[in-house]
Amino acid sequence: MISSRHEGRVAVVTGAGSGIGQATVVRLVREGAQVIGCDLNESGLATTTEQLGDLSPGVTLLAGDITDQEFVDHVVTSAGGRIDLLANVAGIMDHFVPLGDLDDELWERVIAVNLTAVMRMTRAVIPGMKAAGGGAIVTVGSKASTSGGTSGVAYTSSKHGVLGLVRHVAYFYAPDGIRSNAVLPGPVATGIGASSAPSVPWAMERAMLSMATMGAMAEPDQIASAVSWLGSDEAANISGAILTSDGGWGAA
Ligand SMILES: NC(=O)c1ccc[n+]([C@@H]2O[C@H](COP(=O)([O-])OP(=O)(O)OC[C@H]3O[C@@H](n4cnc5c(N)ncnc54)[C@H](O)[C@@H]3O)[C@@H](O)[C@H]2O)c1
Repeated sequence: MISSRHEGRVAVVTGAGSGIGQATVVRLVREGAQVIGCDLNESGLATTTEQLGDLSPGVTLLAGDITDQEFVDHVVTSAGGRIDLLANVAGIMDHFVPLGDLDDELWERVIAVNLTAVMRMTRAVIPGMKAAGGGAIVTVGSKASTSGGTSGVAYTSSKHGVLGLVRHVAYFYAPDGIRSNAVLPGPVATGIGASSAPSVPWAMERAMLSMATMGAMAEPDQIASAVSWLGSDEAANISGAILTSDGGWGAA
């Protein structure tokens, strides 16, 4: 165990089969949490089980799509009624497609995963958190949550959107003891490259200009540690915060 920070707590993590979500599952389990992880990618979840090794029996990993309300309900029900921490991590990129080249299908899929599913997951945990007197929600945004040059229009819009959701929940549910915060990573070595391959060369060149001051790739656990901390009682007075974890890129 790294620490007992989350001892006795129940956490739900989306995107549990790869990258930051997988690292978050492993970290939270090692910090004492009982974790319910979910991901679209079943084989990714199998790698999470491998990484957990001896700790895997305490973890529930569910395969499914968080854009599907029935699956969202299933994930929350599987937690057994009490969720102390929700980590909204799952997300997809948009191939750096600029607005003029965007088709509705790409827009709708990216918004569905990166924004609507985050809304659905968050909405689904609120009643239980209210009944329990509180809870913590940590949502992974991006450098694209606060700038317009680092991805395509669908990803940028979705990641700006989640900040509104994060702040809405922080404000309106503060009287219920619910905290809501965001972590904005810079570049992280994960599997997200599959949806990052650029498809419009001039737009990628333009995006590269805004990435000139980008620092080194982070490891997924460096983001998971921020998620864990914001979701713990050590951050009990922090809500509505937007925490960058980008090695200083955002300070440029
Ligand atoms: N990697 C980076 O450089 C970077 C930078 C900034 C922000 N982020 C954000 O970090 C988060 C995690 O991304 P990552 O880099 O770990 O990527 P990743 O591709 O390694 O992991 C994302 C996981 O989410 C899952 N997923 C996608 N759509 C889903 C759906 N509809 N239902 C359930 N699961 C789904 C994928 O199967 C995958 O396992 C994302 O929100 C991403 O936007 C990543």
